[in-house]
Amino acid sequence: MPSIFNARDADSYEQTMGRWSRRLAPLFIEHAGAAAGERLLEVGCGTGSLTFTLAGTVAFEELTAIDYADVYVAAARAKNRDPRIHIEQGDAVALCFPDAHFDRALSLLVLQFVPEPGVAVAQMRRVTRPGGVVAAAVWDSGGGLVPQRIFWDTAAMLDAAAVVQRGRAMSKPVVAPGGLARLFSAAGLADVDERPLLIRMEHADFADYWEPFLNGEGPMGAYVAGLGVADRARLEHHLRAAYLAGAPDGPRSFAAIAWSCRGVVPSVASASPARRGPAGGARK
Ligand SMILES: C[S@@+](CC[C@H](N)C(=O)[O-])C[C@H]1O[C@@H](n2cnc3c(N)ncnc32)[C@H](O)[C@@H]1O
Repeated sequence: MPSIFNARDADSYEQTMGRWSRRLAPLFIEHAGAAAGERLLEVGCGTGSLTFTLAGTVAFEELTAIDYADVYVAAARAKNRDPRIHIEQGDAVALCFPDAHFDRALSLLVLQFVPEPGVAVAQMRRVTRPGGVVAAAVWDSGGGLVPQRIFWDTAAMLDAAAVVQRGRAMSKPVVAPGGLARLFSAAGLADVDERPLLIRMEHADFADYWEPFLNGEGPMGAYVAGLGVADRARLEHHLRAAYLAGAPDGPRSFAAIAWSCRGVVPSVASASPARRGPAGGARK
């Protein structure tokens, strides 16, 4: 299974994560350094938070965006009015593009959901030209994503199954400090630079924090969808107390940090243990 992200519905994704990834996208673009005239690849475009932010800020020549989830690909395509953008279903660990085809390969909040993230980085390197840039970001789930931390710590106090899921969400090597940089170096990328990017996740009230989890989207949505009525009510009760933290219901602003990493494809090709050839040959 090349994806462990629970993708069900594009509108639910917007409520759960799209509104935040849109906010993160400009910071990521600044670090990734996308430039005018380039041919870009986006891996794991989802509903298009990075895709359409790129379109609004960078005069690229062409952007190919792929995602594993059909429902997100359909939603992003329906939104697209830009003839420079091509959106396709695809797999990060088996990119169907020729070697050195792109100037820059980007991926926002995807690699933590790919069981073999090192293979995905090696694939992004393969399809990027020498001197081009590969860049990716993941949430700092272990130490820098307050709303998720509240959710899983509360759930784990109530349910042993949530302890396992909390570990899966927060303790993957790829989300640890230096995790992306290690993958980038292992893929043979040069001038690797990893840094934190900070946004705030602002909620109007507890309902605005809690209700997106009820849509079943993403890992936390999938967990809530699997609970019975009584367990769900118990989780809601304890999450409400954590959200309120002794103050009346109303707006809260939570810090959310992502690790962003970029590296340059060296001019002289160097072999990488995780490297694979193109999976399906050239598309264009
Ligand atoms: C948290 S979402 C991020 C989406 C978008 N980049 C954004 O920032 O809103 C994770 C995305 O990774 C995609 N994904 C997971 N595994 C993938 C794979 N092997 N190949 C392509 N996309 C994948 C999911 O379908 C989902 O759209």
